[in-house]
Amino acid sequence: MEDKKKILYSGMQATGNLTLGNYLGALRNWKTLNEEYECFFGVMDFHSLTVRQNPAEFRQRARNLFALYVAAGLDPEKNCIYFQSHVSTHAELSWILNCYTYMGELNRMTQFKDKASKHSDNINAGLYTYPVLMAADILLYQADVVPVGKDQLQHLEITRDIAQRFNGLYGDVFTVPKPYTGKIGAGVKSLQNPEKKMSKSDENPNASIYLMDDADTIRRKFKRAVTDSDTQVRYDVKEKPGISNLMDIYGAVTGKDMKDIESEFAGVGYGDFKAAVGEAVAGLLAPMQERFEEIKNDKEYLDRVIGANDEKAFYVSNKTLRKVKKKVGLTDRIK
Ligand code: TRP
Repeated sequence: MEDKKKILYSGMQATGNLTLGNYLGALRNWKTLNEEYECFFGVMDFHSLTVRQNPAEFRQRARNLFALYVAAGLDPEKNCIYFQSHVSTHAELSWILNCYTYMGELNRMTQFKDKASKHSDNINAGLYTYPVLMAADILLYQADVVPVGKDQLQHLEITRDIAQRFNGLYGDVFTVPKPYTGKIGAGVKSLQNPEKKMSKSDENPNASIYLMDDADTIRRKFKRAVTDSDTQVRYDVKEKPGISNLMDIYGAVTGKDMKDIESEFAGVGYGDFKAAVGEAVAGLLAPMQERFEEIKNDKEYLDRVIGANDEKAFYVSNKTLRKVKKKVGLTDRIK
């Protein structure tokens, strides 16, 4: 009998424009994971509602994020890629888990504090219970591992706490997930402030390379990237954070290590180095951008894969939800 693969769960919010940071840090690596894991990747559109969205734009963006998953090489036959909002189990389990999560725990979430201060005119309850919905996402699929960035580790920690609490009360219902510790991509920093991470919510468009930026824009942004007043291409995160970030990016794209990059650009100014990074990144993104253009308007194809994967996600997650409902004592629906 074939060994059962472990389960991996992740997803991105359909908010903002994805950046090179999202690509090198997550998306690019996701397509290699299905060899080892059974993979589920959600378009986390419910989470995006915690911040006001323009409905027409939001609809398009969510759909584009799905197309981008495919364009980035996630095979929708081998990975379950689907919309969170199309699968009703997420909202249901999220409600139930709300009743097994303490306000004291949620009060500690640093992302909530952060977002509440940024959106002080709209501190809604969804923003507060956001981590519970995320716990539901993960636990519904009995995920063993979850690849997330540093900023989401606290949410994964609370997911584990909720799962353990629930299991303690009702027996082993949920797999307690672990952070994915395999090779994850480079931590890409802002091009304008290399102390900060490259973020899709950065107000300065020159700080980020967006996945849909054309080659000229990419070259220009790298040319303008903030560096130090030295001239040596040398890896030193403390003293030369800007250049080191560009080296990290160049290394992530070309596979070269920092020593190789230092010797490749020894005695050449920053200008030539930045041009090389721009070229490399433009070349990396071009095939994905072409594929995205091909499929984004192929309604028939997208509808077909979305429909099939939504259904699979429902089937898998509903098994967990049914178990949970039974355990807590909810009555069955009459058929
Ligand atoms: N909160 C995550 C983010 O903003 C997105 C997300 C929602 C997620 N549910 C998840 C990630 C479940 C991993 C697993 O990045």
